[in-house]
Amino acid sequence: MPQLNLSILGTRLKGVDLEIMRLARKRMELALLVGASKQTTGDPIFRSEIEDDRIAEIRVFAESIDLSPNFAESMLYALIGESCKQQMIQLQSGDSVVQPQDAEERLKWCKKNLLELAKVVSATDHQLRFAEYPATADYAVYEGEVIQEVVSRVEVAGVAVDLGCGKGNIFPWLSPKFDVVRGYDISPDMIAAAQGQFPKGKFEVADLDEGIPLEDESASMIVMGLGSASNLSSAENLFREVQRVLRPGGRFVLSFHNSEALMYESSYVPVHNGWAAFIDVDEECLNVKVAGKTYRIHATPYSLQQIDDMVPKGLVIEGKNSYPVVSSLVPRVILKNTTVTKKISEIDRTLSDTNQGAYLLVTGKKE
Ligand SMILES: C[S@@+](CC[C@H](N)C(=O)[O-])C[C@H]1O[C@@H](n2cnc3c(N)ncnc32)[C@H](O)[C@@H]1O
Repeated sequence: MPQLNLSILGTRLKGVDLEIMRLARKRMELALLVGASKQTTGDPIFRSEIEDDRIAEIRVFAESIDLSPNFAESMLYALIGESCKQQMIQLQSGDSVVQPQDAEERLKWCKKNLLELAKVVSATDHQLRFAEYPATADYAVYEGEVIQEVVSRVEVAGVAVDLGCGKGNIFPWLSPKFDVVRGYDISPDMIAAAQGQFPKGKFEVADLDEGIPLEDESASMIVMGLGSASNLSSAENLFREVQRVLRPGGRFVLSFHNSEALMYESSYVPVHNGWAAFIDVDEECLNVKVAGKTYRIHATPYSLQQIDDMVPKGLVIEGKNSYPVVSSLVPRVILKNTTVTKKISEIDRTLSDTNQGAYLLVTGKKE
């Protein structure tokens, strides 16, 4: 058997160490949630009986996997110690990681985070960002195909509207067909980037929680991509506004985060996956990673049933797909290989009717 050299073994050790640190980081996140809960219940930070039980259990587990129980105990003790320290800092700073409880305060907090995030993303190279997050990139390709298919079915050109347009990534799919493409986004930085990239588009700052700033029956197509429909405070309002603004026969494509996605069943396990953002389902928060920092913004994931229940009279749903299933679950390293990614995408397309994918793409028209 060929002997592995120290450099290869060193690389492998480093890989394992990184995973251990990722797990430790996840434990600290959970510890801060526990800390915030203790602040409301008044429970002490260190609860010796509970920690003792946990340590006793870990000793038994360590033996069962042929690991020294003493080593396992000391490791867990270090983790518990750091968790208690973080909870103490949290308590003393009065700065809870948990979002504000008051609904209005929470929305303000989320929007402040969103504007900070948008500033950073607007200045980031789109292709480089997607290269780092292959599952997000794969979804965007799928979504583009769906949008183009729906565009081809719009009979009267006229005005197309991109809601939550960001830097205008959807513009190229709309501009060949429509006379005017309008884009709205809450972030002035995103709007400036979109206008700079696509001078022919009409981009404006607007908070879509306050409605779509357009006249009744003035648009032939409305798109809201990359899960943005979940960012609004009410999807019900969004559907009502789509119904109001679309002209009869006009079409829509709305993308939501899917609350029934398979990926949320084990979301507490920190797989180094291919997503730029993941939902904290318990808190309706979307954690978006950019330049080493995580921003927490509002996002409500929906089930297909919830969406069916909120579609107003006059709008007809034509397509309900969810995407992707497999690439939402696999570690990022698997998606680095483009041949494998292509084949996984093919499988994910066959699974798009299973309702288990990360995003829900809802398409339809106004009667
Ligand atoms: C996931 S990004 C999608 C960007 C773009 N559609 C794309 O496909 O690349 C969501 C966008 O929605 C915008 N957004 C979120 N909440 C909004 C709101 N209440 N009003 C307007 N825009 C909003 C964000 O600023 C961000 O640019």
